[in-house]
Amino acid sequence: MSTSRPGGVSDTNSLAAVDDTSAAVVVRKAYKEYRSKSLFRRAAGNMVIRGLDMTVRRGTIYGLLGASGCGKTTLIRSIVGRDQLTSGVIRTLGGTPGAPGSGVPGPAVGYMPQELSLYSGFSIGETFRYFGWLTGVQNEELAERTSGLLEFLDLPPSHCMVGELSGGQQRRVSFAVALLHRPPLLILDEPTVGVDSVLRQRLWDHLLDISADGRTAVIITTHYIEEARQAHTLGLMRQGVLLAEDAPDRILERHRCGSIEQVFLKLSRAQAGATTHREADVTAPAVPAAGRVGDQRSE
Ligand SMILES: Nc1ncnc2c1ncn2[C@@H]1O[C@H](COP(=O)(O)OP(=O)(O)OP(=O)(O)O)[C@@H](O)[C@H]1O
Ligand SMILES: [Mg+2]
Repeated sequence: MSTSRPGGVSDTNSLAAVDDTSAAVVVRKAYKEYRSKSLFRRAAGNMVIRGLDMTVRRGTIYGLLGASGCGKTTLIRSIVGRDQLTSGVIRTLGGTPGAPGSGVPGPAVGYMPQELSLYSGFSIGETFRYFGWLTGVQNEELAERTSGLLEFLDLPPSHCMVGELSGGQQRRVSFAVALLHRPPLLILDEPTVGVDSVLRQRLWDHLLDISADGRTAVIITTHYIEEARQAHTLGLMRQGVLLAEDAPDRILERHRCGSIEQVFLKLSRAQAGATTHREADVTAPAVPAAGRVGDQRSE
């Protein structure tokens, strides 16, 4: 394995393979290992991403599905340039995340992190202004988009303080911030957690709408299989790799299953079997629960 540089780009052979300009995001041979920083424990590595390949086409919604702890947020943090891979290649909109001029992180990407990163001492309006100015939105547009987003996301008036909003309302403000500057790449880490089903469908309709003209690519992570069926491409992630990546119907057809849940179960069992063969003492992890993929953190 080769050494890494900012953005995780490191391997010249892999770089040659990443020339697909029709893709919004390309990930090749990605590995990410977290190493313990404790002075008192022997450094133990946790390989969270294990040779993952991913391709997100422009103008499409990519639904990244996987159990808790399978590495979705870790992968996304590397794609938006907030973290580095241990090795492997990432291209976002043809550039390298984290490289000067790539716009990632920056105006080329709208990112809603899983953990909220808003300022509780700002009002909603101040939050929009702050993030809007950072990403180059002009004042007239800002006012128009702010009122549109407040209405669309069923949010209280713009003078309300972020710190006084409910957790769900704060997540919707975070979602709005990601959309505000209309970026070509939108990355949403579990935006629909705790969202009312009517609003959830409205969010999906909006994503389908903005991807329809081919200008916006969306990556959305979720535990909910049903809503992810609306994506153009699904990535089924487990233990740091994608078990399948294709249009939902094609995944069903290829694996001759009636539901994505069954495909997940089938591929998870195959992966667990392969792992058991490789490492005789590894216990097969729990299979995903109905309608929602399970938890891998304890594996
Ligand atoms: N900063 C970190 N340092 C060390 N380990 C980490 C760090 N961030 C995540 N991990 C570990 O990496 C693994 C994958 O975590 P990650 O948050 O990427 O999973 P996830 O698929 O996003 O889960 P969830 O669905 O619960 O959000 C977990 O075992 C987690 O404990
Ligand atoms: Mg996560």
